[in-house]
This record gives sequence, C-alpha cells and structure tokens, in this order.
Amino acid sequence: IRKVTTRRLFEMKQRGEKISMLTAYDYTMASIVDQAGLDVILVGDSASNVIAGNVTTLPMTLDEMIYHGRSVMKAVKRSLVVVDMPFGTYQGNSKLALASAIRIMKETGADCLKLEGGEEILDSVKRILSAGIPIIGHLGLTPQSINKFGTYTVRAREEEEAKRLLSDAHLLEEAGCSAVVLEKIPATLATQVASELKIPVIGIGAGNGVDGQVLVIHDMLGMTNGFSPRFLRRYADLHSIMNGAVQQYVKDVKSGDFPNEKEQY
Ligand code: KIV
Ligand code: NA
Repeated sequence: IRKVTTRRLFEMKQRGEKISMLTAYDYTMASIVDQAGLDVILVGDSASNVIAGNVTTLPMTLDEMIYHGRSVMKAVKRSLVVVDMPFGTYQGNSKLALASAIRIMKETGADCLKLEGGEEILDSVKRILSAGIPIIGHLGLTPQSINKFGTYTVRAREEEEAKRLLSDAHLLEEAGCSAVVLEKIPATLATQVASELKIPVIGIGAGNGVDGQVLVIHDMLGMTNGFSPRFLRRYADLHSIMNGAVQQYVKDVKSGDFPNEKEQY
C-alpha cells in the first residue's frame, strides 16, 4: 500500500483528482475509513463535541488530542493523518506552538498538523514549518474562535472579511502550508481561493469548486441526529440502526432470549 503524503495531495490537485477527507478519533473508526480508501484522516478537535460531549472545541487539551492521534495512527496503513492543534497550544506564542507541535508529532507519529487562523498565527505557522512539520491551514468558520464571533453562521459574506480570507489563504501558501481547509463560506469565494492557490483547498460547507471535501464522520454516518446544517449529506442513518439494535438487545436480555444455548459454554 502506498501511503498518502502531502506531496501526493499537491499532485492530486494538479491532476484534478478530488481529495476525500473525514474525521476519525479512534482505532476502530480509523481502520474502517483507511480500508475504505479515504485519502486523508483528520483527528479533529471536533472530538470535543462528538466524543467528549462539550459544547465547543475549546476545552480540548494537547494530551487528549495526542491520545486520539495515537489511537488513529495504530490503525492507518494508507491515509494521510492530520491532527488538529487544540485551542491554547499555538495562538500568540510561536515557541509554545513549536513545543506543542513537536509533542504531537513525537507522541502520535502523525503526518501533519492543522491550525486555525491566518495572519494572526503566522509566526507559529512559520516556526512549526521550519522544524519540518507539515501544516494544513483552516480559515472561514474557525470554531476555536467561537467566543469572538458568537455564532456558527456562514463566514466571509461581506467584502472585507472575504478579502481578508483570500489574503490569509495566500499568506499560508507562501509560508509553506500543504493545504488549506475552508469552513462554511460562500461557494464563489471558496472557488476563487482554490483557483488562486497552488496548494489544495479542502472545503466543508464551501461548495464544489474546491479541491476536496471534509466532513465529521459522526455527522455523515448519521450517528449524531441533532445537527443538520445544509452542507451535511448523511450517508447512513446509524443513529436509528444503533438505537434499534440496543432496543432489541434490551428486549432479548429482559425476555431471557439472549443468550441461547449456542451462545453459552
Ligand atoms: O475538527 C474538525 O472536525 C474540523 C473539520 C470540521 C474541518 O476541523
Ligand atoms: Na477542528
């Protein structure tokens, strides 16, 4: 099996081959998506919401991200693995950022890191890149800044914010980032970013004019059922399937149907 590299993502863009990316946070899920032929696994700090049950991604710690990253890495043979740097481990202090980045790389064996933000985190981005650690940027809706924005609605609808996003995307490319994720911005703007940049642009709620797509796996498998933004396509209804299976199990245990004679020693 040929492992996906950041170089390969760049070649995929040049060839016009779209990049598929999903989150995974644990060994079992990572082995499923890796075997299914997914290009990129994101160990997202959305683990804060879907795994830890927090309302935002802010509480996620470096140790927790390392735990998820290490679990995922044990399963992966082919996909490129990207780990999110959690809130508070890279903003405003590039030395801390490098130390955090090195811990993730050493302790998980991941291939690449993802950081939210543009110009305001450029010092951290450059310092991490100078250590030979690949970075994927993340612009648009950046959930670690939710307290600044106050809402999870579409970003960069206004001219000024759109211009800033475009310039941030260029700064990240010039600094040497391997790709950029654009979250929840108008499709026309995302298409413009993807056409201006040479590095791949991967969208979530950013339309079809970009170089790849990413979704949170619990959402696309329909395990979560309270979250239905327009950009989400559900490829399964695992919530119903799992709920039904557990209901049946409860019934079978109560009735004494489980276990039967063949299911005992
Ligand atoms: O943490 C995450 O799942 C993400 C994606 C939504 C891009 O950052
Ligand atoms: Na994230």
